[in-house]
Amino acid sequence: MALFFSLPTTLLLLLLLLLLSSCLLPPALPFTVIMSDSSTLVDGPQSGFSMNKYGFRTDIREQEAVYDIMKATGNDWATNIPDVCRGRWHGIECMPDKDNVYHVVSLSFGALSDDTAFPTCDPTHSYISPSITKLPHIRTLFFYRCFSYNPQPIPAFLGQLGPTLQTLVLRENGHVGSIPSELGNLTRLRVLDLHRNNLNHTIPISLGLIAGLRSLDLSGNKLTGSIPGLSFPSLNILDLSQNLLMGSIPPAVGTCHSLIKMDFSRNRLSGPIPDSIDGLKDLMLMDLSYNRLSGPLPISLRSLISLQALIIKGNPMGSDAIPSDGFDGMKGLMILILSNMNLHGSIPESLGRLTNLRVLHLDGNQFNGSIPVNFKYLKNLSELRLNDNRLIGSVPFGREMVWRMKRKLRLFNNPGLCYKAGSGLDEDSDSGIGVCDVPRPETGRSVQHLSTLERYVPRTFNVSSDAVFKISVPVGLIQLATLLLCTFTLM
Ligand SMILES: *[C@@H]1O[C@H](CO)[C@@H](O)[C@H](O)[C@H]1NC(C)=O
Ligand SMILES: *[C@@H]1O[C@H](CO)[C@@H](O)[C@H](O)[C@H]1NC(C)=O
Ligand SMILES: *[C@@H]1O[C@H](CO)[C@@H](O)[C@H](O)[C@H]1NC(C)=O
Ligand SMILES: *[C@@H]1O[C@H](CO)[C@@H](O)[C@H](O)[C@H]1NC(C)=O
Ligand SMILES: *[C@@H]1O[C@H](CO)[C@@H](O)[C@H](O)[C@H]1NC(C)=O
Repeated sequence: MALFFSLPTTLLLLLLLLLLSSCLLPPALPFTVIMSDSSTLVDGPQSGFSMNKYGFRTDIREQEAVYDIMKATGNDWATNIPDVCRGRWHGIECMPDKDNVYHVVSLSFGALSDDTAFPTCDPTHSYISPSITKLPHIRTLFFYRCFSYNPQPIPAFLGQLGPTLQTLVLRENGHVGSIPSELGNLTRLRVLDLHRNNLNHTIPISLGLIAGLRSLDLSGNKLTGSIPGLSFPSLNILDLSQNLLMGSIPPAVGTCHSLIKMDFSRNRLSGPIPDSIDGLKDLMLMDLSYNRLSGPLPISLRSLISLQALIIKGNPMGSDAIPSDGFDGMKGLMILILSNMNLHGSIPESLGRLTNLRVLHLDGNQFNGSIPVNFKYLKNLSELRLNDNRLIGSVPFGREMVWRMKRKLRLFNNPGLCYKAGSGLDEDSDSGIGVCDVPRPETGRSVQHLSTLERYVPRTFNVSSDAVFKISVPVGLIQLATLLLCTFTLM
């Protein structure tokens, strides 16, 4: 009976985490992993059934509802299927109750990839049929690129699916208008994904009723107003990026203790980053780039002990924004992007103690003084941008480090910066900086360090900064998960 999948929730969560962490390196794919659980169905009201030759019965009213839903998406062919739960088309999942009556638990539409065979929608005519409310066991609804040329609001009647619905994905569907506050009635929801529609107005407060939410993705819309101070104790993924959100980051985000990814980038958020973020001990990615946030960065940043990527570029915070030991707790930090923040003063030496750093962008600021000498111990660094600052003195890296980074070392537009002969930079006519005139007294000591450094095998991985910005929430269908894993393993 390969009609449905019943993996334990824990396993799926594990999978989700796995996918998320592997997403930090390869460019992410716009997939979604839907979490479902293995509990059996409770008895539903049973009146009419269709009995087929195999002896399975499907609830006849649910079957009629599925025909309606299929017709509404331009899939009229489905009405020729005598028993939808035995029709063996991808995109429908059914489960038996204890009387062996099959109920529809999951419906998926849209060409997610070449390998998935969900029914596609006719984007010019499709709509969500109200017959969806006649599926009393439905747990998962997935519509991808379904209504793009027939823009319509998200129907409020979806709120009637509260008793059962766990996953609602309406991605890139061209939905317009506001997020219906009725969605707050979906109190069993774990995944709400409304990525890239044309939704406007504010984020409804009623979403705060969904206490068990694990993934909330409202990115790529036109949402306005401020972020409501909601608290979701189980939330792993919060993506509100690419909207028109204003006001300050609510301190309540610090109470979402399970957050792994928090992306508020490309909005109009202002004010400081709240101190309350120190409660986010599991946070791996924080992207606040391209807002209007003000400094200084809170000391509590130090408490983000799981953080792997911190991206704050494009917020003109001004001088004194970086406390000198502000990053000391983030031992696992691999990606730090602080470009174009109007930062003044010298580059804090504490950055050189973040030995796991792979990508460091400090370009487009007003940093003066010299490059901290301890930067040469950043053995995993494969991308360093220091260009467009006011740095002076000699570049403290050896040949090995320069070769490792190649074109991903950017130093230009620092009029006072120079390189020592033999550092590897002399072979790069495009580095934009010149050779230092006079060898300084401390050069001898540095060279010793450098020769130690050169014994290390050069690392060959490439971490591109472009990959970072696309870290997207892996949320998808169970049957896609294996496929996904393979994709990631191949990368
Ligand atoms: C929201 O979008 C709808 C439909 O596109 C439009 O009619 C309405 O004026 C918009 N409202 C706001 C406040 O932007
Ligand atoms: C659903 O939510 C709306 C507004 O949030 C509310 O007025 C309505 O009573 C709710 N309906 C049900 C069936 O709970
Ligand atoms: C560098 O990366 C490797 C894995 O790629 C890791 O094992 C190591 O701990 C990292 N840090 C340092 C300082 O080498
Ligand atoms: C760097 O700039 C700050 C002001 O932003 C100034 O106080 C400091 O003296 C400068 N340091 C150097 C080495 O030029
Ligand atoms: C690293 O990047 C360079 C160009 O930026 C590319 O030629 C090379 O193949 C990449 N190496 C790996 C291991 O991806």
